[in-house]
Amino acid sequence: MLETLYRRRSIRKFKNVPLERERIEKITKAALLAPSSCGIRPWEFIIVESKQTLKLLSEAKASGSEFLAGAPFAVVVIADETKSDVWIEDAAISSVIIQLEAEKLGLGSCWVQIRNRRTANGESSETYVKKVLDIPFHYRVECIIAAGYPAERKKPYSQDDLLMEKIHYEKY
Ligand SMILES: Cc1cc2nc3c(=O)[nH]c(=O)nc-3n(C[C@H](O)[C@H](O)[C@H](O)COP(=O)(O)O)c2cc1C
Repeated sequence: MLETLYRRRSIRKFKNVPLERERIEKITKAALLAPSSCGIRPWEFIIVESKQTLKLLSEAKASGSEFLAGAPFAVVVIADETKSDVWIEDAAISSVIIQLEAEKLGLGSCWVQIRNRRTANGESSETYVKKVLDIPFHYRVECIIAAGYPAERKKPYSQDDLLMEKIHYEKY
């Protein structure tokens, strides 16, 4: 696992190659295996491969979502907030697990924050994404994870990047 964690970097440029069904299936299974508070599993996942929809999603934020237009694949992570008061944590954990599975499958990925963000017109990014994807009212949108075969290289992390001073033993 540490090797995967050192290697994982946010990738925002992708080859114009669709993901194979088996890879998509593995990513969806990884998402569904994420731990959640009390095992409630308030999350749901919308797999998007349509170029047209990805283009619309690329406009979900004033900045930081543009690259979705060039991604072959994305998972929109949503959760039913009426089911759990810690849906944010649950959704975030599943999102990271999607990223780690993508990494293990030789793909690059990047998180696009949606909750608490706004479009260029000042509309809530969540409202925008919910309209694009017909998401029911009581669901919240945490983020969008874009993934695909990387078309950019990033230096893996090394031991020197670790902020060891952030680790405390026994007491602060
Ligand atoms: C909660 C969260 C929100 C993020 N939001 C965005 C985003 O909206 N757009 C984007 O391009 N990257 C986003 N990122 C990716 C970060 O910019 C990236 O993880 C960080 O710069 C560290 O780089 P690394 O992922 O290569 O280690 C987000 C990451 C996290 C964990």
